[in-house]
Amino acid sequence: NMKVTKICCIGAGYVGGPTMAVIAQKCPDIEVTVVDLNAERIAAWNDKDINNIPIYEPGLGEIVGEARGRNLFFSTEVEKAIHEAQLIFISVNTPTKTYGSGKGMAADLKYIELCARQIARIAKDDKIVVEKSTLPVRTAEAIKSILNHTGNGVQFQILSNPEFLAEGTAVQDLLHPDRVLIGGETCEEGQKAIQTLVDIYAHWVPREKILTTNVWSSELSKLTANAFLAQRVSSINAISELCEKTGANVNEVARAIGMDSRIGPKFLKASVGFGGSCFQKDILNLVYICKSFGLVEVADYWEQVIIMNDHQKRRFGNNIVSTLYNTVADKKIAFLGWAFKKDTNDTRESAAIYIADDLVNEQANIAVYDPKVDADQVYADLDYLKTRNVEKNRKKVTVFEDPYETCHHAHAIAIMTEWDEFAAYDWQRIYDNMQKPAFVFDGRNLLDEAKLREIGFIYQSIGS
Ligand code: NAD
Ligand code: UDX
Repeated sequence: NMKVTKICCIGAGYVGGPTMAVIAQKCPDIEVTVVDLNAERIAAWNDKDINNIPIYEPGLGEIVGEARGRNLFFSTEVEKAIHEAQLIFISVNTPTKTYGSGKGMAADLKYIELCARQIARIAKDDKIVVEKSTLPVRTAEAIKSILNHTGNGVQFQILSNPEFLAEGTAVQDLLHPDRVLIGGETCEEGQKAIQTLVDIYAHWVPREKILTTNVWSSELSKLTANAFLAQRVSSINAISELCEKTGANVNEVARAIGMDSRIGPKFLKASVGFGGSCFQKDILNLVYICKSFGLVEVADYWEQVIIMNDHQKRRFGNNIVSTLYNTVADKKIAFLGWAFKKDTNDTRESAAIYIADDLVNEQANIAVYDPKVDADQVYADLDYLKTRNVEKNRKKVTVFEDPYETCHHAHAIAIMTEWDEFAAYDWQRIYDNMQKPAFVFDGRNLLDEAKLREIGFIYQSIGS
């Protein structure tokens, strides 16, 4: 097997950063360099104050603090790191295409291709290239084709090693993964490359949890896992709407079905709709691939997961408007939470963005508080939608640093993210300072319903 002394990871984002930090912590003999074109992001990873690293994840600061400068490095010198490493992870973003054919559906692979071309240009000795980004099935083929045309005799092996970490629990997920998946070619060189990567994970992951497959199974397993997970959320959210009509309670239904060991209790939490950078993007990508093979029924089946999620987000906003006597014009609606889930500062595809946008269309004034998201990010998320000009977004949406100020004189509060601290607030104090009747729309079924009703709130949750 190839002796690995240096690893390079291209892309210092939500996946590249935490993943490499854990590899560096667990493999002190290997030098791990994470590179990115974004100099600001790299500077933040290198910030002396560990609280300033660009990603908020419980436990990440400690690990970066331990390994950084020892065998973990963050750098903008992409070429140098590629040149020196035996093993190169590609962990760049693969967003949904916003132009051309497949617009709004297919994965945009331009960043991946740039990486492949750069590796091809720089490599002077044999390398293993690992797809860590989530990619459409058969992307490895394209990468291989680019790498095999260097003309300088360098041999490449391409592995697929999708990442299954969830944000907010990234460190725990990386330290104790349910499984690690490695796909490679079936030929001898392919098997050797697989073994090289297995040996790295085996520093801390039990061997029986490291699964090896062919490249295509590995690539498709990642899309499938996210599609199944998202489908559970859309399924319980679909039932939540029926619960609201029938007097059933979705929490009770989820509990009752989750005790069936074939169904299992996890990922059955009704919500304001799923967000995050992965679920929607990966399902759209799956749908696009199915359509490109003419598999219309399969494509439609999975697309319904997205349609249901869009409906769940929209109906939450509509319900606020209709409950507030059919008008929210110039009313103050306080949003507690902007991140797509708790324990992360990531806001990509967060339901809060779309619901705020709908409510501003209804001329509401939105007040936002999130413990880890700053005003610049909130405005960037709204501006990105291009629904209205940037001045209007700043006029209608205000971001606060104190939750009590956020709720002061509000007509209604909407819980968008399930941050633990929200449940611990002084809800009597919040009530006393609100307009009456005081409404709470709990998009996460987080708060104590009986307590809030006793204080005097008109409280509505999802699915009851
Ligand atoms: P991200 O946007 O946080 O990070 C990607 C980084 O790559 C950016 O900092 C960008 O500047 C950098 N980059 C892009 N092109 C580059 C190039 N040519 N050279 C150097 N740097 C370059 O994205 P992410 O959330 O870390 O996701 C990365 C991949 O991992 C995606 O394919 C995603 O689908 C997948 N994934 C994400 C998660 C998650 O929870 N976020 C989980 C599993 C898999
Ligand atoms: C997901 C996958 O879980 C992870 O394995 C993959 O690597 C990346 O995509 P992530 O998007 O970070 O991870 O978070 P996840 O915990 O899956 O939550 C996604 C969204 O679904 C969040 O908005 C969350 O609030 C929502 N959700 C999740 C629910 O509404 N109900 C649930 O029961 C679970």
